[in-house]
This record gives sequence, structure tokens and C-alpha cells, in this order.
Amino acid sequence: MPSLKKLSIESFRNLRTALIEPGEAINLIVGVNGSGKTSLLESISVLAHGRSFRTHKYRRLINHDGSQFTIFGLVQDEDEQPFEHRMGVVRSSNGKFAIKIDGLPVHTSAELAQRLPLLVLNANSFQLLEGASRYRRQFFDWLVFHVKHDYKNCWKAYSKCIKHRNSLLRSGKIASSEIAPWNREIAQVAEGLEQMRSEVFTPFKQAFHSALADFVFSDGGQSVDIQYVSGWKEGANYLEQLEQSEEKDLRLGYTSIGSHRSDLKINAGKSPAVELLSRGQQKSVIVSMFLAEASVFHQLTEKRPVFLLDDLPSELDLSNLKVIGNAIQALESQVFVTAIDSRAITECWNGPVLDDLKMFHVKHGEIHDFT
Ligand SMILES: Nc1ncnc2c1ncn2[C@@H]1O[C@H](COP(=O)(O)OP(=O)(O)O)[C@@H](O)[C@H]1O
Ligand SMILES: [Mg+2]
Repeated sequence: MPSLKKLSIESFRNLRTALIEPGEAINLIVGVNGSGKTSLLESISVLAHGRSFRTHKYRRLINHDGSQFTIFGLVQDEDEQPFEHRMGVVRSSNGKFAIKIDGLPVHTSAELAQRLPLLVLNANSFQLLEGASRYRRQFFDWLVFHVKHDYKNCWKAYSKCIKHRNSLLRSGKIASSEIAPWNREIAQVAEGLEQMRSEVFTPFKQAFHSALADFVFSDGGQSVDIQYVSGWKEGANYLEQLEQSEEKDLRLGYTSIGSHRSDLKINAGKSPAVELLSRGQQKSVIVSMFLAEASVFHQLTEKRPVFLLDDLPSELDLSNLKVIGNAIQALESQVFVTAIDSRAITECWNGPVLDDLKMFHVKHGEIHDFT
């Protein structure tokens, strides 16, 4: 199972310099507001994705007194050969962006993600219910990307064709015959993408319901459902629909239907979950979506993702925190979880997992190992 054995941080947010050796199970990060807990998680997400979950403006990530940040991590996976990888990400205020794996430069952050599969649950995760469809698409595509090897290339090819079709649409006067080959190409690739997505969605939905069933939901829990919605009218042929939407797309200047418009529909009864459920219930639904991802990821790859859980206790009562504690314990993932007060977290675990718990205390940007 992939896990982060060492993490070294330089000039990242308020963390000037830090070196930690996380444990394989639960890593608890405690500290007062503004101490640097989220920054620590953020540095791990930069190591795994090449970018932050808080901002796209990388200059914000560089410490105010520095001109570049460096994140280095040692990732271990006993089931792989070689079983250890050294991963590094450097970004400078002058625009330099370097990713290295085992000393060699790599050109896409997907290489990082493959070696350190990471799931991030934070306040932003509520976007899964209340945000635009792209949040749900990105979330679900994380799973498809990790379990279907062809997905990355297929998606790349698809995006390239859509870009091309869009520029044709915007180029003004064009003949239908010019667009026709692109329609065919797009429809063919989209079919492959849909096939992969639907193959992954079936076990995902099952795992979602099984995770949600453990939560204490005073009412409405049974009626929560999740559906995959493809980016065109269901049941009908995509190529035909694409051809029919040509006039509309010409007016719009972009391709209005396709795999890039797919979505997940999450309902409680007949209403969208976000309009009916309490904030705490919504969090249970969101956590169940993450647990389902982790469990299907494990089913299909025999690997376990690393979890970042920022402010896990907020909005959740103790009984549901315990449900999450048990579920995460059963997944046997490496976990980084932040809290202001360690008791809020230690209460949700019991037994041997607490013996392996590592605790880090963050104070004014300095990280101390308290274990
Ligand atoms: N580029 C930066 N350089 C220095 N400090 C920063 C930078 N960006 C944010 N900070 C500060 O880092 C502190 C830690 O933030 P954060 O990690 O979100 O705290 P926590 O999650 O512990 O509440 C905040 O006080 C914030 O103002
Ligand atoms: Mg925080």
C-alpha cells in the first residue's frame, strides 16, 4: 500500500522548514487556528498533484520571506518494484516548476498522482453537493483514472478532439463536412470513456450505499441515491445527437454535449440532497462518497489511497465520527487528519489503531512530533 514515509517542506506557506516521518496508519495533526495544519496537508496535495487544493495561484504558496518552495517526499509501496520512490516538487516565484521522481525530471503531475494516490476531504468537499458538475466529474474521474489504465490517454484524445471541434465552431463560416469527421472521432472516443465510467460506477454505487448505511441518519438516509448522468440524452445515439446539436453549438461556439458534461446526481428522495439534508447529513453523504472511492480503488487495484482529512470533526457528532473512524480503520489507509483538539479525534478510534497513532503538534509554522 502506498504511504508517505518522509515529508520535507521548505518555504511553503507559514512552514519555513519541516521534516516529518509519518506513521503508516493515523497521523493526527493538532494546533490552534492559523498554526499551519491545513498548510501541512496542502503540501502533501502539492506533492501528489503538483497543485494545491486551496488555490491555483502558486505564488500564494511560497513563504512570504522566500522565493521558492520545495516539497520532498519518500513514498513506499511494498507491492511495487521498486518499492520506494523519491518525489520532489519545486516552484519559484520566477515561474520555475520542476517535478522530479527518483532524481529524474518528469513532465506531468499525473506521474505523481500514480505513485501517491490521494483523497482530500475538506470544507471544499461540500462542492460535491452544492457546486458545479465539474467537481463531481473530477471526483469520479479520480477513481476511473486510477483503476482504468486506458482512461488517461482516452481522455487526452477526447479533450484534444473537443478543442479542435470548438475552434472549428468558432472559426466562423464552416461547412458541415468539415465538422463531420470530428463528430465521428469524438463519438468513438466518448463511447470508450462511457464504457469505462459505467464499469466503475456500478461498484462505486454499491460501495456508496454500503458506507452510507452505517451512518446514524435520523431520517432520510435510506432515500439517498446517486446516479451517473452521461453528458447527452440517455438511451439515444451520441453521434446522432452531436450532429443534431451542430447548429446550436455553432451559435454557442462550443460543444454542448459529451463526456465533458457528465455529472453525478445525488438525491434525497425526489430533491437534490443539498436542498433537503442538514449540513451534518450532507457531510455523511460526502464522506460515504470518499469511502466508496477508497474501497472500489482497493477492490480493483489492491492498493489503498492516502487520506487527507482537514477538520474532520466539524459538523459531525460523536456517533458519526466513530462510524468514520471504523470505516477508515477497516480500509487500512494511511491517514493525515487535522483537529484543534486531539480529543475530538482520539475519541473516534479505539483499540490497536491508537497504539500506532502518530501525533504532530503544529505551532507558529513549526511541526513537532509528539509521539
Ligand atoms: N505564503 C505564506 N507565507 C507565510 N504565511 C502564510 C502564507 N500563506 C498563508 N500563511 C499563513 O499561514 C498560517 C497557517 O494557515 P493554515 O495552515 O490555514 O492554518 P490552520 O489550518 O492551522 O488553521 C495562516 O496564519 C496564514 O496567514
Ligand atoms: Mg485549517
